[in-house]
Amino acid sequence: MVGMSPSSLAVVVLAAGAGTRMKSATPKVLHPLAGIPLIGHVLSTAEALNPQQTVVVVRHEAEQVSEAVDTWADNAHIVHQDDIPGTGRAVELALEKIPSDVDNVVILSADVPLLDSETIGAMIGFHQEAEAGVTLLSTIHEDPTGYGRIIRRDDGIVTAIVEEVDADEQQRAIHEVNAGVYVARRDILAHALPSLTTANAQGEKYLTDVVGQVATQSGVVHAVVVEDSWLVEGVNDRIQLQRMQRRLNTMIVRGWQRDGVSIKAPESVWIDLSVQLDQDVTLLPGVTLEGSCHIDNGATIGPDCTLSHARVGAGARIQRSVVDSAVIAAGATVGPFAYLRPGTVINEGGKVGAFVETKNATIGRGAKVPHLSYIGDADIGEGANIGAGSITANYDGVNKHRTVIGPHAKTGSDNVFVAPVEVGAGAYTAAGTTIRRNVPAGALAVAPVSVRTIDGWVGTNRPGTAAAEAAENSRTTPDTH
Ligand code: UD1
Ligand code: CA
Repeated sequence: MVGMSPSSLAVVVLAAGAGTRMKSATPKVLHPLAGIPLIGHVLSTAEALNPQQTVVVVRHEAEQVSEAVDTWADNAHIVHQDDIPGTGRAVELALEKIPSDVDNVVILSADVPLLDSETIGAMIGFHQEAEAGVTLLSTIHEDPTGYGRIIRRDDGIVTAIVEEVDADEQQRAIHEVNAGVYVARRDILAHALPSLTTANAQGEKYLTDVVGQVATQSGVVHAVVVEDSWLVEGVNDRIQLQRMQRRLNTMIVRGWQRDGVSIKAPESVWIDLSVQLDQDVTLLPGVTLEGSCHIDNGATIGPDCTLSHARVGAGARIQRSVVDSAVIAAGATVGPFAYLRPGTVINEGGKVGAFVETKNATIGRGAKVPHLSYIGDADIGEGANIGAGSITANYDGVNKHRTVIGPHAKTGSDNVFVAPVEVGAGAYTAAGTTIRRNVPAGALAVAPVSVRTIDGWVGTNRPGTAAAEAAENSRTTPDTH
């Protein structure tokens, strides 16, 4: 960390706001950005500052937000904000949990997710060098709507921040805006916060009012201008969130392209931060990769695939399919139009073809389930072939049971395997068979079905139809051979 001993620093993350402008049942700070909730990004950044203490202030949907805090931070204290609204009140309550030997407090907003620890470190360095009371990050926005405006004296010293709703016309014309990220001396904050009032357009205790107070009473306030506005962009509504998702995704996609991944239509490919791709992976249009996906070299995914938590081996090929928590080994092929549900494992060179659904199933090396099947709770042996339109009847209404198909077995089209049931190694089953009992290795299972034909039935029962006419013609057409 830049220029100070980590023991003298605490971080406060503000996450108690209602996020009204999102119009969502999900708390704003839990909306995802590249697979990580907004607050997760901020907590990781906070952790990178190596503070003596991290305090997260929650209120709106406190239980859900606290859960996310536990997931994304190792050692954060949670403070519940009371009925008094505003960022100032949030920091006031957080301060009670910060040890008195802490010199400086960094304040981060849980809705400013792209900010990195280097930029914050530079702010802290500047703060210490300038011996400031408060130092904050600002940026120049072409459209400053919605942000607090930075008011500076002629010599550049910051004298106040005015919120959009409280600003007059002249102040609204200012393009330098408050990023909502601060470092402040603990003693100065402790002195200033209790005297904040709610006498403003939103009836809130504004943290930004501390700036005006400090500037006139107890110290100097500096604003460090961040050149790249994206770093300090806040998320308040769905439009801002989407813009940020698009921006971050573009950066992620470019990063993978530089690392040797072919991405045909980058604007249609979405990749979570947690995804790992090897060289010479090809992503065709319309691919979404979520969670812990790891794709090995030479695999081709797409077009139109959604993979979540999938492990894909070298050279595998997946087309127009949905894959959730499945393992697809090297050289395996999936789709088009397959649905691989959790617990599916396709071993090397295996195939799951068109309109096939699998769940909790292992497909052996080189084994094939090529067409129109449901394979659930099953083990398909190496080199086995499952006929088109086959179903594992795995559920008896109470329990699930397994189907085991032996290596190199060949099952006929339109089979139903009533589990628990086993087809032995190298066995065959006939088309249209319902397999209710185990089939021994090397056997052929056929259901004794006899088909009865009734001559002339159509002519008698469907007279005058095209079918009857065709039948009649075929009967009377002279044999020309
Ligand atoms: C805030 C700043 C504004 C700045 C902008 C930058 C204030 C008064 N205004 O405005 O100057 O330009 O951020 O993004 O600080 N929160 C709480 N408790 C509350 C209210 C909010 O913890 O009572 C949290 C929110 O969850 C959020 C953060 O504080 O993470 C900012 O709150 P928000 O309401 O989004 O403030 P802005 O209107 O964006
Ligand atoms: Ca905000």
